[in-house]
Amino acid sequence: MDKLAIKGGTPLSGEIAISGAKNAALPILCAALLTDEIMTFSNLPHLRDVTTLLRLLAQMGVRVTPESEAAAALDASGLNNPCAPYDLVKTMRASILVLGPLLARCGEARVSLPGGCAIGARPVDQHIRGLQAMGAEIQVEQGYIQAKAGHLQGARICTDMVTVTGTENLMMAATLAEGETIIENAAREPEVVDLANCLVNMGARIFGAGTDVIRVQGVERLHGAAYAIMPDRIETGTYLCAAAVTGGRVRLLKTAADTLDSIIDKLMEAGCDIQIAREAIHLQAPARLKSVSLRTAPYPAFPTDMQAQFMAINCVAEGVATIRETIFENRFMHVAELQRLGADIQIEGNNAVVRGIAGLQGANVMATDLRASASLVVAALAAQGETRIDRIYHLDRGYEDMALKLSRLGAKVERI
Ligand code: EPZ
Repeated sequence: MDKLAIKGGTPLSGEIAISGAKNAALPILCAALLTDEIMTFSNLPHLRDVTTLLRLLAQMGVRVTPESEAAAALDASGLNNPCAPYDLVKTMRASILVLGPLLARCGEARVSLPGGCAIGARPVDQHIRGLQAMGAEIQVEQGYIQAKAGHLQGARICTDMVTVTGTENLMMAATLAEGETIIENAAREPEVVDLANCLVNMGARIFGAGTDVIRVQGVERLHGAAYAIMPDRIETGTYLCAAAVTGGRVRLLKTAADTLDSIIDKLMEAGCDIQIAREAIHLQAPARLKSVSLRTAPYPAFPTDMQAQFMAINCVAEGVATIRETIFENRFMHVAELQRLGADIQIEGNNAVVRGIAGLQGANVMATDLRASASLVVAALAAQGETRIDRIYHLDRGYEDMALKLSRLGAKVERI
């Protein structure tokens, strides 16, 4: 099992390019199921989750043709097995995103329940309820979602809470339904907008993506299209935190600052100087950051996927920060590992109080989930001495070539 060995204390400097967004690529690749014509995707990130999803689609009968490191063509004309088996779904919950497209295209689907993960139970009841409102008959038995539908019917759906993949599943299903579907309390995340843009390129009629009310007028069929995945705002935020906590000065290329407002605001509040250029962000960190409190919430508020990384920078900032996690019930798995590096963090329910200290000490730590492992990398870069992070396969799920990109920025990091 690979580890990362990081020697902290070096201010990051230089420039790297940001990859395509994992959480846009996953739903957008599933959209290929909605048409029997060829879809070509570019700016695809080279990640385990993407590879897993392409394997899942291939075993359904989708022909996957890699075109380059970051491009692939998908042909779902031979779709013959609308099933997502447990052994694949258990490794990547986002597999649930095939449910809506399969029901819309084939009228049936058998998808393993994703089950929980380290950060929470993560049920999919909103996905199921919305599809049932559109006329699908759905049973959950032996750990599988068994779904059947004639022609899906447009419906007015209001989800109980804002759900990103729930909104994406329902939006995809609605593109081929009879009549109009209205999704209220819809997620406004940029990745939902990226998916909507791809679907519109395929001939879908979608209005309001990016707001909390999305209208979809069903059409007979969707045609093939070419689409470039948006840049990854969470990867961008993670490298900004790494530069900020090491007193560095970096330039991130091929990114989109307008999807990171809440993250940039918090980094400026912490004392960073940030300049926005077209498709680039430049950060100059202060000698020492100031503590910044935050509360996670659906977009455009502060993203839960950046909570762990900001906890890491608060560990060595000047002052006391309160971090409130409102999206997932168990997203403080990184706290115990940060405490092994010497961090002063007290958890009270879904609040964490972080008292900044002068410096962390390197130690052996273990990654538990994707963003928790990112926070350990950020903390290790600031710590004195060497930190070894175990189980970094979690990192490979969501960060393309992280050790290489950090080395390019001058970090002393080695994959062992
Ligand atoms: C997406 O997960 C992201 N994953 C997550 O990123 C992200 O943390 C999350 O949205 C919140 O922004 C992808 O896009 C592939 P939700 P998703 O449905 O859609 C509850 C990462 O690190 N809920 O918005 O699964 C749920 O339990 C990952 O890249 C229900 O109760 O999250 C949670 O408390 C981690 N029933 C809240 O809603 C449902 O049917 C928000 O979940 C659906 C959700």
